[in-house]
Amino acid sequence: MRFYVNIDHVATVRQARRTDEPDPVRAAVLAELGGADGITVHLREDRRHIQERDVRLLAETLRTPMNLELAMVPEIVDLACELRPYQVTVVPERRQEVTTEGGLDVVTDASRSRLEPVLVRLRDAGIRTALFIDPDPDALQASAALGVEAVELHTGEYALAHGAQVHAELDRLADAAAQGRRLGLAVHAGHGLTYENVTPVAALRDVEELNIGHSVISRAVLVGLREAVTDMATVLRRAAGGDA
Ligand code: PXP
Repeated sequence: MRFYVNIDHVATVRQARRTDEPDPVRAAVLAELGGADGITVHLREDRRHIQERDVRLLAETLRTPMNLELAMVPEIVDLACELRPYQVTVVPERRQEVTTEGGLDVVTDASRSRLEPVLVRLRDAGIRTALFIDPDPDALQASAALGVEAVELHTGEYALAHGAQVHAELDRLADAAAQGRRLGLAVHAGHGLTYENVTPVAALRDVEELNIGHSVISRAVLVGLREAVTDMATVLRRAAGGDA
Protein backbone atom coordinates (compact mmCIF):
# COMPACT_ATOMS: atom_id res chain seq x y z
CA MET A 1 0.00 0.00 0.00
CA ARG A 2 1.44 3.37 -1.04
CA PHE A 3 0.61 6.32 1.20
CA TYR A 4 0.38 9.66 -0.59
CA VAL A 5 0.01 12.70 1.65
CA ASN A 6 -2.19 15.51 0.37
CA ILE A 7 -0.68 18.80 1.58
CA ASP A 8 -3.35 21.18 0.22
CA HIS A 9 -4.42 22.30 3.67
CA VAL A 10 -0.97 23.54 4.58
CA ALA A 11 -1.54 25.97 1.72
CA THR A 12 -5.09 26.65 2.96
CA VAL A 13 -3.63 28.04 6.20
CA ARG A 14 -1.08 30.13 4.30
CA GLN A 15 -3.73 31.54 1.97
CA ALA A 16 -5.89 32.54 4.94
CA ARG A 17 -3.32 35.31 5.46
CA ARG A 18 -1.95 35.55 1.90
CA THR A 19 1.50 35.26 3.44
CA ASP A 20 4.43 32.87 2.98
CA GLU A 21 3.86 30.44 5.86
CA PRO A 22 3.28 27.62 6.31
CA ASP A 23 4.99 26.66 3.07
CA PRO A 24 3.60 23.46 1.52
CA VAL A 25 6.97 22.86 -0.14
CA ARG A 26 8.60 22.61 3.29
CA ALA A 27 5.71 20.52 4.51
CA ALA A 28 6.32 18.11 1.65
CA VAL A 29 9.90 17.59 2.81
CA LEU A 30 8.65 16.70 6.30
CA ALA A 31 5.99 14.39 4.89
CA GLU A 32 8.65 12.61 2.87
CA LEU A 33 10.92 12.33 5.90
CA GLY A 34 7.96 10.93 7.81
CA GLY A 35 7.54 8.13 5.28
CA ALA A 36 5.10 9.40 2.65
CA ASP A 37 5.43 7.42 -0.56
CA GLY A 38 4.28 10.41 -2.58
CA ILE A 39 2.89 13.92 -2.33
CA THR A 40 -0.53 14.94 -3.64
CA VAL A 41 -1.59 18.50 -4.43
CA HIS A 42 -4.70 19.84 -6.09
CA LEU A 43 -4.16 22.98 -8.15
CA ARG A 44 -7.69 24.33 -8.27
CA GLU A 45 -8.92 26.80 -10.84
CA ASP A 46 -9.89 29.16 -7.98
CA ARG A 47 -6.38 28.81 -6.43
CA ARG A 48 -7.87 28.63 -2.95
CA HIS A 49 -4.91 26.71 -1.55
CA ILE A 50 -2.10 25.38 -3.74
CA GLN A 51 -0.56 27.96 -6.11
CA GLU A 52 1.32 27.50 -9.36
CA ARG A 53 4.53 28.45 -7.55
CA ASP A 54 4.05 25.50 -5.18
CA VAL A 55 3.59 23.01 -8.00
CA ARG A 56 6.67 24.33 -9.81
CA LEU A 57 8.85 24.12 -6.69
CA LEU A 58 7.49 20.70 -5.75
CA ALA A 59 8.23 19.43 -9.25
CA GLU A 60 11.84 20.51 -8.74
CA THR A 61 12.34 19.39 -5.17
CA LEU A 62 10.24 16.30 -4.38
CA ARG A 63 12.16 13.09 -3.83
CA THR A 64 8.99 11.03 -4.09
CA PRO A 65 6.42 11.02 -6.91
CA MET A 66 4.01 13.93 -7.26
CA ASN A 67 0.34 13.22 -7.81
CA LEU A 68 -1.16 16.39 -9.26
CA GLU A 69 -4.93 16.59 -9.00
CA LEU A 70 -6.56 18.78 -11.60
CA ALA A 71 -9.84 19.49 -13.29
CA MET A 72 -10.07 19.81 -17.05
CA VAL A 73 -8.96 23.44 -17.06
CA PRO A 74 -6.81 24.11 -20.15
CA GLU A 75 -4.15 26.27 -18.47
CA ILE A 76 -3.69 23.70 -15.67
CA VAL A 77 -3.46 20.84 -18.13
CA ASP A 78 -0.81 22.93 -19.96
CA LEU A 79 1.12 23.35 -16.72
CA ALA A 80 0.97 19.60 -16.03
CA CYS A 81 2.27 18.84 -19.51
CA GLU A 82 5.11 21.30 -18.94
CA LEU A 83 6.11 20.07 -15.48
CA ARG A 84 5.33 16.39 -16.04
CA PRO A 85 4.50 15.18 -12.54
CA TYR A 86 4.68 11.41 -12.12
CA GLN A 87 0.90 11.18 -11.99
CA VAL A 88 -2.14 13.32 -12.70
CA THR A 89 -5.49 12.48 -11.15
CA VAL A 90 -8.34 14.15 -12.97
CA VAL A 91 -11.03 15.31 -10.55
CA PRO A 92 -14.32 17.18 -10.88
CA GLU A 93 -14.38 20.75 -9.59
CA ARG A 94 -17.26 23.00 -8.66
CA ARG A 95 -16.58 26.54 -7.62
CA GLN A 96 -18.81 26.62 -4.58
CA GLU A 97 -17.76 23.24 -3.15
CA VAL A 98 -15.91 23.03 0.16
CA THR A 99 -13.95 20.04 -1.12
CA THR A 100 -14.20 17.65 -4.06
CA GLU A 101 -17.76 16.33 -4.05
CA GLY A 102 -18.30 13.00 -5.74
CA GLY A 103 -16.38 11.33 -8.50
CA LEU A 104 -15.85 12.48 -12.05
CA ASP A 105 -18.55 11.86 -14.64
CA VAL A 106 -16.86 9.38 -16.95
CA VAL A 107 -20.05 7.77 -18.26
CA THR A 108 -21.86 10.42 -20.29
CA ASP A 109 -20.75 10.98 -23.89
CA ALA A 110 -20.28 14.70 -23.31
CA SER A 111 -17.91 14.17 -20.41
CA ARG A 112 -15.96 11.44 -22.16
CA SER A 113 -15.44 13.51 -25.25
CA ARG A 114 -14.03 16.31 -23.04
CA LEU A 115 -11.83 13.86 -21.15
CA GLU A 116 -10.36 11.98 -24.09
CA PRO A 117 -8.16 14.77 -25.54
CA VAL A 118 -6.97 15.78 -22.07
CA LEU A 119 -5.92 12.21 -21.30
CA VAL A 120 -4.16 11.90 -24.65
CA ARG A 121 -2.18 15.10 -23.96
CA LEU A 122 -1.19 13.96 -20.48
CA ARG A 123 -0.19 10.51 -21.70
CA ASP A 124 1.79 11.99 -24.60
CA ALA A 125 3.68 14.03 -22.00
CA GLY A 126 4.62 10.76 -20.28
CA ILE A 127 2.37 11.27 -17.28
CA ARG A 128 0.61 8.39 -15.53
CA THR A 129 -3.12 9.13 -15.61
CA ALA A 130 -5.79 8.39 -13.01
CA LEU A 131 -9.47 9.28 -12.78
CA PHE A 132 -11.20 10.05 -9.49
CA ILE A 133 -14.48 8.13 -9.68
CA ASP A 134 -17.27 6.82 -7.50
CA PRO A 135 -17.06 3.10 -6.68
CA ASP A 136 -19.56 2.33 -9.39
CA PRO A 137 -19.37 -0.51 -11.98
CA ASP A 138 -20.24 1.71 -14.97
CA ALA A 139 -17.65 4.31 -13.97
CA LEU A 140 -14.97 1.60 -13.71
CA GLN A 141 -15.88 0.16 -17.08
CA ALA A 142 -15.84 3.60 -18.70
CA SER A 143 -12.48 4.44 -17.08
CA ALA A 144 -10.90 1.28 -18.45
CA ALA A 145 -12.28 2.13 -21.90
CA LEU A 146 -10.64 5.56 -21.64
CA GLY A 147 -7.26 3.83 -21.31
CA VAL A 148 -6.08 5.32 -18.01
CA GLU A 149 -3.55 3.49 -15.86
CA ALA A 150 -5.42 4.00 -12.61
CA VAL A 151 -8.63 5.01 -10.89
CA GLU A 152 -8.95 6.61 -7.49
CA LEU A 153 -12.10 5.41 -5.77
CA HIS A 154 -13.98 8.11 -3.89
CA THR A 155 -14.19 7.00 -0.26
CA GLY A 156 -16.30 9.99 0.81
CA GLU A 157 -19.57 8.05 1.09
CA TYR A 158 -17.82 5.41 3.19
CA ALA A 159 -16.34 8.10 5.42
CA LEU A 160 -19.75 9.67 6.02
CA ALA A 161 -21.63 6.39 6.57
CA HIS A 162 -23.01 5.27 9.93
CA GLY A 163 -24.01 1.90 11.38
CA ALA A 164 -24.81 -0.88 8.90
CA GLN A 165 -24.21 1.54 6.06
CA VAL A 166 -20.48 1.46 6.82
CA HIS A 167 -20.28 -2.20 5.82
CA ALA A 168 -22.38 -1.61 2.73
CA GLU A 169 -20.06 1.21 1.62
CA LEU A 170 -16.99 -0.88 2.36
CA ASP A 171 -18.43 -3.72 0.27
CA ARG A 172 -19.01 -1.26 -2.57
CA LEU A 173 -15.37 -0.18 -2.37
CA ALA A 174 -14.14 -3.79 -2.23
CA ASP A 175 -16.27 -4.78 -5.24
CA ALA A 176 -15.16 -1.73 -7.21
CA ALA A 177 -11.51 -2.35 -6.36
CA ALA A 178 -11.77 -5.99 -7.47
CA GLN A 179 -13.49 -4.94 -10.69
CA GLY A 180 -10.78 -2.34 -11.31
CA ARG A 181 -8.06 -4.93 -10.91
CA ARG A 182 -9.88 -7.34 -13.24
CA LEU A 183 -10.01 -4.54 -15.82
CA GLY A 184 -6.26 -4.09 -15.50
CA LEU A 185 -6.46 -0.79 -13.63
CA ALA A 186 -4.32 0.22 -10.66
CA VAL A 187 -6.77 1.07 -7.88
CA HIS A 188 -6.22 4.03 -5.57
CA ALA A 189 -8.63 5.39 -2.97
CA GLY A 190 -9.14 8.51 -0.94
CA HIS A 191 -11.24 11.31 0.48
CA GLY A 192 -12.43 11.66 4.04
CA LEU A 193 -10.13 8.95 5.39
CA THR A 194 -9.13 9.44 9.02
CA TYR A 195 -7.06 7.70 11.70
CA GLU A 196 -10.33 6.14 12.88
CA ASN A 197 -11.84 4.90 9.61
CA VAL A 198 -8.84 4.09 7.41
CA THR A 199 -8.03 0.56 8.63
CA PRO A 200 -10.66 -1.44 6.68
CA VAL A 201 -9.88 0.50 3.50
CA ALA A 202 -6.14 -0.01 3.95
CA ALA A 203 -6.86 -3.74 4.31
CA LEU A 204 -8.55 -3.99 0.88
CA ARG A 205 -6.05 -6.06 -1.05
CA ASP A 206 -6.99 -4.62 -4.45
CA VAL A 207 -6.27 -1.05 -3.37
CA GLU A 208 -2.63 -0.13 -3.85
CA GLU A 209 -2.54 3.59 -3.05
CA LEU A 210 -4.27 5.87 -0.54
CA ASN A 211 -4.47 9.66 -0.69
CA ILE A 212 -5.00 11.23 2.71
CA GLY A 213 -4.90 14.93 3.50
CA HIS A 214 -7.28 16.66 5.86
CA SER A 215 -6.98 14.24 8.75
CA VAL A 216 -3.18 14.20 8.64
CA ILE A 217 -2.87 18.00 8.50
CA SER A 218 -5.49 18.33 11.29
CA ARG A 219 -3.48 16.02 13.49
CA ALA A 220 -0.27 17.85 12.65
CA VAL A 221 -1.80 21.08 13.97
CA LEU A 222 -2.60 19.44 17.29
CA VAL A 223 0.51 17.31 17.79
CA GLY A 224 2.67 20.28 16.79
CA LEU A 225 0.90 22.97 18.82
CA ARG A 226 2.54 22.24 22.15
CA GLU A 227 6.04 22.50 20.67
CA ALA A 228 5.10 25.63 18.72
CA VAL A 229 3.83 27.35 21.87
CA THR A 230 6.95 26.31 23.78
CA ASP A 231 9.13 27.77 21.00
CA MET A 232 7.29 31.13 21.09
CA ALA A 233 7.41 31.19 24.90
CA THR A 234 11.18 30.71 24.67
CA VAL A 235 11.49 33.64 22.26
CA LEU A 236 9.41 35.81 24.59
CA ARG A 237 11.42 34.89 27.67
CA ARG A 238 14.64 35.69 25.83
CA ALA A 239 13.22 39.05 24.72
CA ALA A 240 12.39 39.83 28.35
CA GLY A 241 16.02 39.06 29.29
CA GLY A 242 15.12 35.97 31.26
CA ASP A 243 16.42 32.43 30.92
CA ALA A 244 15.30 30.58 27.83
N1 PXP B 1 -8.45 12.34 -3.28
C1 PXP B 1 -8.99 13.39 -3.97
C2 PXP B 1 -9.29 13.20 -5.41
C3 PXP B 1 -9.23 14.61 -3.35
O1 PXP B 1 -9.76 15.64 -4.05
C4 PXP B 1 -8.90 14.76 -1.99
C5 PXP B 1 -9.12 16.07 -1.31
O2 PXP B 1 -8.38 17.06 -1.94
C6 PXP B 1 -8.33 13.67 -1.32
C7 PXP B 1 -8.15 12.47 -1.97
C8 PXP B 1 -7.93 13.75 0.12
O3 PXP B 1 -9.07 13.87 0.89
P1 PXP B 1 -8.94 14.27 2.42
O4 PXP B 1 -8.33 15.63 2.46
O5 PXP B 1 -10.35 14.23 2.90
O6 PXP B 1 -8.06 13.22 3.05
